[in-house]
Amino acid sequence: MKIVMVASEGVPHSKTGGLADVVGALPKALVELGYEVEVVLPRYRMTKPGRALARMKSLTIPLSSSFKFCSIQDGGKIGGAQCYLVECPEFFDREDLYQENGRDYEDNAQRFAGFSLASLEFMKRSYTPPHIVHCHDWQSALVPVYLRTLYQADKFFEKTSVVFTIHNLGYQGLFPPHTLPQISLHAGLFTIDGLEFYGKVNLLKGGIVFSDSITTVSRKYAEEIQTHEFGCGLEGVLKSRADRLQGILNGVDYDAWNPTTDKLIPANYTPENHKGKETCKKSLLESLGVRQPALSRPVLGIVSRFAAQKGFDLIAGIADEIMAMDLCVVALGTGEPVYEELFRTMAKKYPQKFLVKVAYDNTLAHRIEAGADLFLMPSRYEPCGLNQIYSMKYGTVPVVRATGGLDDTVEPFEGSSGTGFKFSEYSPIALLTTLRQALETYRQPKQWQRLMQNCMKKDFSWASSAKQYAKIYEGLNKARGKARAAAEEDTA
Ligand code: ADP
Ligand code: GLC
Repeated sequence: MKIVMVASEGVPHSKTGGLADVVGALPKALVELGYEVEVVLPRYRMTKPGRALARMKSLTIPLSSSFKFCSIQDGGKIGGAQCYLVECPEFFDREDLYQENGRDYEDNAQRFAGFSLASLEFMKRSYTPPHIVHCHDWQSALVPVYLRTLYQADKFFEKTSVVFTIHNLGYQGLFPPHTLPQISLHAGLFTIDGLEFYGKVNLLKGGIVFSDSITTVSRKYAEEIQTHEFGCGLEGVLKSRADRLQGILNGVDYDAWNPTTDKLIPANYTPENHKGKETCKKSLLESLGVRQPALSRPVLGIVSRFAAQKGFDLIAGIADEIMAMDLCVVALGTGEPVYEELFRTMAKKYPQKFLVKVAYDNTLAHRIEAGADLFLMPSRYEPCGLNQIYSMKYGTVPVVRATGGLDDTVEPFEGSSGTGFKFSEYSPIALLTTLRQALETYRQPKQWQRLMQNCMKKDFSWASSAKQYAKIYEGLNKARGKARAAAEEDTA
């Protein structure tokens, strides 16, 4: 079976968040299960292909009433899966992926429509049609829309089913109605059963409506998004497709995130001997300017996009109380100016105790995972969340809000079992109470050792999640085969 993964970002070529980690790791796990997997990504300015070989020098995309021209480059192998990069400098040779200075690029609809069409046109020019096209988030949501409209009668895709994965319902790709003809779509799609959403065109909704199967990245989030509180206005559409919707927890790539082998941290360590973790802690604090770091004082790590989703407004309300505790905070992130400012202000107010780097820095992200004792994710909502899972592997105990994937992956530490601390109510007091509880446990070395062991022994590798995707692919392929056979019988 041939699977083509279409996504707007993927490690090692491009990344703004967890989607890239998933796209960089899931194909590898699928190849291990015996599938032929290809990955199609845009070639951005930040993409540095090892081999800049052109696979297809010129590909014409029928966008709007004119044509765009792009080329396809060989992106090398991603763990056994062949990667292709859509090169279209007009669209992708830019400073960032989706926005600059907090403002979305104005032509995002055209950029990702162009990318989706290029992916389909490229597939058409290869010898074997895919059995499954697997798309992710609003940026590739037009692939299923095009397949079931423009390409509906195209024999090449008659065996192709589409799986659509929602990584975050908070980003839907909303555009004005006049966008439809600009992205080669008929105005007739602007209906409540199509792409219309409160007077706008909603690309994510297109992915939900036109795909054969819809997944999201944790079981809990699959339930949450069917409610008014978490559905971001799409709860009705999701409920109407509930029989096609499933939550599959993200796995993590332990080749990249493992303290035993991680080359980005100053000392490696294992669950049996974590002496090296102390070296990591000392080096982390020194690198951030702490004079004579007290190693007995717990370090609370944060690595995150600074967005409303991540719950940092909770910290703002209790900053003084947190800083009165015997701990040190180390935070790394970038994002919305209001949160960047919040973290900068805290760093100024509490020198040597609240250490902040406003940047995107992968090496420091690894060093925080290894050097911190606790890891904070107080998210308002969290589809899956990867950092709490990475943290566990590094023996860094997660403190999380019980939502989405955070709730599915962290078990409260009670007696001698469990992996972390969590709170349900979205309130500063609930966070504060949970932090106090975590610090109390930290002060009991035997208990803490046990907790670290529990965390480090957890296994969230991709194998079992990849099998769940495989089951969906197989089911769709079988159903399509049956439907085609029935249609042939009818015409005969
Ligand atoms: P989301 O996708 O919502 O941002 P996840 O927890 O799924 O959240 O994934 C975030 C990924 O992005 C992790 O790999 C994390 O290490 C990385 N990341 C986030 N912010 C930064 C940053 N400022 N510097 C380096 N890596 C970051
Ligand atoms: C999104 C979500 C995050 C998830 C990631 C990968 O960015 O915010 O929770 O882990 O996608 O699926």
